Amino acid sequence: MASVLIREAKEGDCGNILRMIRELAEYEKLSDQVKISEEALRADGFGENPFFHCLVAEILPAPGEPQGSCMVGYGLYYFIYSTWTGRNIYLEDIYVKPEYRGTGQDWGGKKSSPHRLPHLLPLNRSLWSFLIPFSSDNPSFCFFLPTSGQGIGSKIIKKVAEVALDKGCSQFRLAVLDWNKKAVDLYKTLGARDLTEAEGWHSFRFEGEAMRELAGK
Ligand code: ACO
Repeated sequence: MASVLIREAKEGDCGNILRMIRELAEYEKLSDQVKISEEALRADGFGENPFFHCLVAEILPAPGEPQGSCMVGYGLYYFIYSTWTGRNIYLEDIYVKPEYRGTGQDWGGKKSSPHRLPHLLPLNRSLWSFLIPFSSDNPSFCFFLPTSGQGIGSKIIKKVAEVALDKGCSQFRLAVLDWNKKAVDLYKTLGARDLTEAEGWHSFRFEGEAMRELAGK
């Protein structure tokens, strides 16, 4: 049976990551704000002093199955610093392709569903030999027939928590749009505190003209 691997992204994954960044922005109805390029991701994430780190979720075929792996999600994070608590980690983006979303977890005592990873399309040999050249170098070209996910989003979040602790971080932060109830519920279920509710924080940013005016440039 196919399995999910959460691994660190490689430079060669940037094309797929960019596609998923655009899908997430579309989901968030903010596509017009995506200006990043594959080249910028390569330079900023995989140089000597990376500005970000990224995990990707990949569906791997079972041994002996002929098709390649396919990328179905990502989590992009970086390190920040708090004057109150020191090292922190910030999860900028988390995304799982729609067909691979869903629970494989125990939610508060609810019995977890059996692992239901995507099954292979029942293709005959000649069709496989036609399709494999497209799939081998292109993990976004997916031959798994999606049925339901296996808590892939939770797996990415757990991995980020693991990295955070390994790096001596005391907090793991993220932001989510207020209407994104599924994501809000997931973060709460996994134990995150809503800081807007609890402490009344608002999120601000300077951009474009405002920034140039401030800097006098
Ligand atoms: N009780 C029962 N079920 C629950 C509970 C709960 N308390 N909390 C969550 N769940 C369910 C959810 O309903 C969901 O299942 P469903 O979609 O089948 O109903 C499931 O648990 C979600 O958990 P996972 O399977 O571990 O997460 P998933 O693989 O679906 O990934 C993610 C979660 C990343 C939010 C995904 O849904 C996604 O990509 N959504 C669209 C993009 C998005 O919203 N990204 C987050 C933006 S915020 C940011 O990037 C920091």
